[in-house]
Amino acid sequence: MSRDGDAFDMLLTEDRRFPPPEGFRERAVVSDPDVYEDAERDFQEYWAAWAEELDWFEPWHTVLEWTPPHAQWFLGGRLNVAYNCLDRHVNGPKRNQAALIWEGEPQDERRVYTYWDLHREVCQFANALKGLGVGRGDRVAIYLPMIPEAAIAMLACARIGAPHSVVFGGFSPESLGDRINDAGAKVLITADGGYRRGQVLPLKAAADKAMENCPTIEHCVCVARGFGLSKVSGVHMTGGRDHWYHDLIADASADCPPEPMDSEDVLYILYTSGTTGKPKGVVHHTGGYLTQVYATTKVVFDLQDDDVYWCSADVGWVTGHSYIVYGPLANGATVMMYEGAPDWPHRGRFWEICEKYGVTVFYTAPTAIRAFMKWGEAFPDQYDLSKLRLLGTVGEPINPEAWIWYHNVIGGGRCPIVDTWWQTETGAIMITPLPGVTATTPGSATLPFPGIEAKILNDEGEEADAGYLALTRPWPSMIRTIWGDDQRFKDTYWSKWPDTYFTGDGAKRDGDGNLWVLGRVDDVLNVAGHRIGTMEVESALVDHPAVAEAAVVGKTHDVKGESVASFVTLKDGIEGTDELVAELKQHVVDKIGAIARPETVIFTGALPKTRSGKIMRRLLRDIADGRAVGDTTTLADPEVVMSLKNRYEEEGKI
Ligand code: PRX
Repeated sequence: MSRDGDAFDMLLTEDRRFPPPEGFRERAVVSDPDVYEDAERDFQEYWAAWAEELDWFEPWHTVLEWTPPHAQWFLGGRLNVAYNCLDRHVNGPKRNQAALIWEGEPQDERRVYTYWDLHREVCQFANALKGLGVGRGDRVAIYLPMIPEAAIAMLACARIGAPHSVVFGGFSPESLGDRINDAGAKVLITADGGYRRGQVLPLKAAADKAMENCPTIEHCVCVARGFGLSKVSGVHMTGGRDHWYHDLIADASADCPPEPMDSEDVLYILYTSGTTGKPKGVVHHTGGYLTQVYATTKVVFDLQDDDVYWCSADVGWVTGHSYIVYGPLANGATVMMYEGAPDWPHRGRFWEICEKYGVTVFYTAPTAIRAFMKWGEAFPDQYDLSKLRLLGTVGEPINPEAWIWYHNVIGGGRCPIVDTWWQTETGAIMITPLPGVTATTPGSATLPFPGIEAKILNDEGEEADAGYLALTRPWPSMIRTIWGDDQRFKDTYWSKWPDTYFTGDGAKRDGDGNLWVLGRVDDVLNVAGHRIGTMEVESALVDHPAVAEAAVVGKTHDVKGESVASFVTLKDGIEGTDELVAELKQHVVDKIGAIARPETVIFTGALPKTRSGKIMRRLLRDIADGRAVGDTTTLADPEVVMSLKNRYEEEGKI
């Protein structure tokens, strides 16, 4: 979908407009369209006004220092993120309000933490981490399922100034180990396991495997997920290194003064895929990040005191960082958190949760919406969704059909939809409707958030109606660098045009000035809203002893957006059997994780290459999608493509 020009032309003929509904605008956090102009008058002042809503131990003396590509925000200011997410609510009327309502995948498991509860446990765990020798600046890796301890661990790190690196629980031991080593983490926090579709994922066993090759790890903390320790097979605690979370907490004091952090101290590192085989450690700092996640959560999700806010992402991704933990808690919201799958034990599980807890604001990914559509209206129709008042999407372009379905079936035709464009690197929402202001149009993320400047540029850096999406002015929550590799930071984002951030996305602008983000223009796939580098999958494939060469491209998928299609040449004398296909798929899962599993593996005698030896991925994408194959005149051997296409069709892989 993302690269298909026809589909995009269809999008642009979309002319339905949905202004903020009656009654919504009146109550909205922002309802005045002048907000854009006000912010434009002085964008630094605009952000400073938001920063003033946070609690600072020391005021800043300079709002922004911009020495491209390095920005510093709120210089001289000191604050603590955990203090802003917890203490200031505990010091006010919200102290006994639910901060986190958690439901496990088993329907009878629930835990509710008030702000005060959360504060207590975060302080205890922060002290426990200190007891393990973790101090300001030390990196802590977090490899947890969607349980409250994930948020607690992040906040505990923030409290003592230890940057965390959360690794999604679906990543393989090898991926986890690579991330731990790149960050030089001292402590790893994991759990015995977590539920997914009724199965227990053995996280501690995976962590043990990773730690075999992680010399910097001194301690590992293991949360007992709560299904009885004996039920999780393979949990082995290594004396001296491994500790049960509940034992550490039991002995820890709940008094832990927050570390006054510099606005430009590192808050966290989060690894994301790029165009090489090695993931990038995106570095986010403290003051600017918190300011923008705080502001965008409040305005984009129109947070009101009586809201029950649910973002269905995993904390392993940036959406979980910014819009489950830091943004909502900084706002004093009541946050819903769910551990498991949307179809377990039945396909109405999400709607059951919405009904049960009276969810009012719901934020999810287009891929999930397309799955819900496929499952049919009968599931949501069984539940009372009348408390919902605002819906959001993120992660990939949403097709208008899915948008309309979301609007009608889930939103009952009355809820505005905020289609939010942003990235791990931007830290917070950048392009989005404001639900009390913007007339939305299905498929468009509409306009930059106030204070943000985004443009569509061509290769020469000139403004165009169609081209690359670029961010042309610094923003508070922007990526500061790539951990340990500032050169890669400069090369990846800042080398295409002077002083301008290259997003890697293509975009167009319609007659109303709305932006339409089309998807990646680089070798990054978006599979079910997850970013996967084609080079990472290729490296995993060529790591297999049977493989000589591999090329990976995205193939259009009706639910996931894209799936992984791979073309593989085998070493001489090796036969491409069905068993080998299965083995190669599993090899990728073992190397990276299940999210990167190729859907198709096609063996070929040769890959289509230019005369200079570059693999022509464009042609492979055409083949994978069953389209007419584009221009082959630059190929060294055009025959390769035709035989590959025939082969692909014969094997019924389209
Ligand atoms: O291609 C864009 C797509 O997701 C990419 C960012 O992926 P990631 O860093 O994993 O962060 C995902 C969650 C913020 C972008 O470069 N993307 C994200 N949101 C949208 C989107 N594409 C179109 N519309 C969106 N709303």
